[in-house]
Amino acid sequence: MQYREIAGTDLKVSAVGLGTWAYGNDTFGRVDDQKSIQAIKTAVFSGINLIDTAPAYGDGHAEKIVGKAIKGIKDQVIIASKCGTYRDGSKYIRDLSPARIRKDLELSLDRLEVEEIDIYQIHWPDPDTPLEESIEELKKLKNEGKFKYLAVCNFDINLLDKIRELADIISLQPQYSLLKRDIEAKIIPYLIEHQLAAISYGTLGGGILSGKYKKRPDFSSDKENRDSFYPFFKKENWGLVQKLIKVIEEIAAANRKTPAQVAINWAINRAGITTALVGAKNKKQAAENAGAAEFNLSEKEMELLTEKSDQIISKLEL
Ligand SMILES: NC(=O)c1ccc[n+]([C@@H]2O[C@H](COP(=O)([O-])OP(=O)(O)OC[C@H]3O[C@@H](n4cnc5c(N)ncnc54)[C@H](OP(=O)(O)O)[C@@H]3O)[C@@H](O)[C@H]2O)c1
Repeated sequence: MQYREIAGTDLKVSAVGLGTWAYGNDTFGRVDDQKSIQAIKTAVFSGINLIDTAPAYGDGHAEKIVGKAIKGIKDQVIIASKCGTYRDGSKYIRDLSPARIRKDLELSLDRLEVEEIDIYQIHWPDPDTPLEESIEELKKLKNEGKFKYLAVCNFDINLLDKIRELADIISLQPQYSLLKRDIEAKIIPYLIEHQLAAISYGTLGGGILSGKYKKRPDFSSDKENRDSFYPFFKKENWGLVQKLIKVIEEIAAANRKTPAQVAINWAINRAGITTALVGAKNKKQAAENAGAAEFNLSEKEMELLTEKSDQIISKLEL
């Protein structure tokens, strides 16, 4: 495993981080809690030390699963959780009011069974709450020792400028993969300039870049909704994405790695990416994803993937 420092902190995070959205058991199909716990433990034993979670994942269920899995190994993990987005039935509601932030954090600490969260991230911007009010509450909570470092997800440059005037942040969590690279134009140079870490998500485009879906999957069950967030599974995009997967598969075969490992390795070797979060539903996926940081694609392979991804992305219907 490779580890990378986050500027201005004592944190050294693994280049591959573990995502836990699926453990909420409401968006990535039916997920078995025991398998989720085994996946977390395997990830940690394989060198992954960053675990990203959120109250919104299964309305707190994913955080409970993380809490159970890390009992006894808490000193080996860096926990990143979030505030300001909660579930109301199937809806995700954004609310960064001071009261919601305090409630979110207190519930997260309970569910995770920790006294302090290492990286505490605003999940999504909330246009209805002045950022100043949210930050004031977050500063109080930090002073109370409830979290260590503040961070954000899904912020654009205007919002990053604004929050940096109000508080110190250490990282941004944006979506980034061979199928989604819009942050390369302005956000990545901004993060590099201001020494902010990029904790990127959706590294496998929700699973499609693993290449295991040979037919367009039927995601119509009530527990499966990932295609509304990751539009790469849509009928209009299916054929195009398969062309990219063919290139990934060829490079994987040449390296004796899996397509998932190639897609992850490409992401962690791109400029400005500190760590790439990948969801893993079982121990096999967790070990495989950790193994994606145990080799390096050649420059030529990186270029080939980037070129093919450019061609495909320009034609995707998002
Ligand atoms: N801040 C935000 O707004 C935000 C938004 C989205 C995600 N995130 C975070 O980022 C994390 C990662 O993104 P994600 O989980 O949404 O998507 P992802 O990592 O692109 O895809 C994860 C899915 O891919 C499949 N998979 C994983 N490893 C595999 C392997 N080795 N071989 C074959 N299939 C594999 C699994 O689903 P199947 O086996 O069912 O295909 C898994 O659930 C999330 O879990 C979450 O922590 C944050």
